[in-house]
Amino acid sequence: MRTVTTARELRAEMSAHRMRGAGVGLVPTMGALHAGHQALLARARDRHEVVVASVFVNPMQFERADDLARYPRDPSRDRSVLEEASVDVCFSPSVDEMYPDGEPVVRVDPGPLGSVLEGASRPGHFAGVATVVAKLLALVAPDAVYLGEKDFQQLVVVRRLVRDLSFPVGVVGCATVREPDGLALSSRNSRLSPAGRSAATALHRALLAGAEAWRGGSDPARCEQVVAREVSSEPLASLDYAVAVDDRLASVSSTPPPPVGHAPARLLVAAVVEGIRLIDNLEVGR
Ligand code: PAJ
Repeated sequence: MRTVTTARELRAEMSAHRMRGAGVGLVPTMGALHAGHQALLARARDRHEVVVASVFVNPMQFERADDLARYPRDPSRDRSVLEEASVDVCFSPSVDEMYPDGEPVVRVDPGPLGSVLEGASRPGHFAGVATVVAKLLALVAPDAVYLGEKDFQQLVVVRRLVRDLSFPVGVVGCATVREPDGLALSSRNSRLSPAGRSAATALHRALLAGAEAWRGGSDPARCEQVVAREVSSEPLASLDYAVAVDDRLASVSSTPPPPVGHAPARLLVAAVVEGIRLIDNLEVGR
């Protein structure tokens, strides 16, 4: 694996691969790599001759300085995970390298997709994500970028970014990797106490209950209530939202339910446990 830290080195590396006609898959990450990231790397490894992983804790997508400071970092472990996954190029730039003039003046505005759900409690977050992803796409020029369904809104924002700004890249969404008890893997989980860790399983449980209601023919609004009630029954969890949306994040509960079996939709849930924001989602209705 080649580790590069500057845009210049990255461009040189990528043009060498391009010259020989190699296809390239990009897996953007913020490090603290776990099995969720490993699944994306494996998927990219299967499909591309060259796999590039970026490791960059992007300050622009953190709205609180303490959240940024607390973000877990373990570069030597990340390195061995990437080696293990047979990644070809690791791009781990400094903040100065990515933003040499400080916060960018020109940024990518994800529009209404960035201000709902997660964006409602994290203003500016998705502009930060969209901007850094656009920069990474410009730097790496991959054939495909791999993202987790775990962060469903992020996936929707990136799909739309690629369409609206005409990036010639495929966006591949990968299924959420979970602990045996259903908890979606997240680098934030390591900040939970044992009691908080166990309370966090309420999110997945709630989604399963909502999905069961969906399958049983309940209308979307009722399924949202089922999810909300299940999370609220966990004393350590405070619910932010439980919604049923389509693949553009539009609510499917305010519109009349479609005739048979419902249209494809996803239940999204967010809650705070011990001050840590947790999200999860599940596809329903296919
Ligand atoms: P990070 O949180 O490191 O996540 C990197 C990628 O791993 C994202 O696409 C995320 O959805 C995926 N991922 C995280 N947990 C997962 C899980 N349990 N199962 C499957 N995939 C999972 O998301 C970011 O970084 C950043 O916002 C980034 C896109 C890198 C831009 O800075």
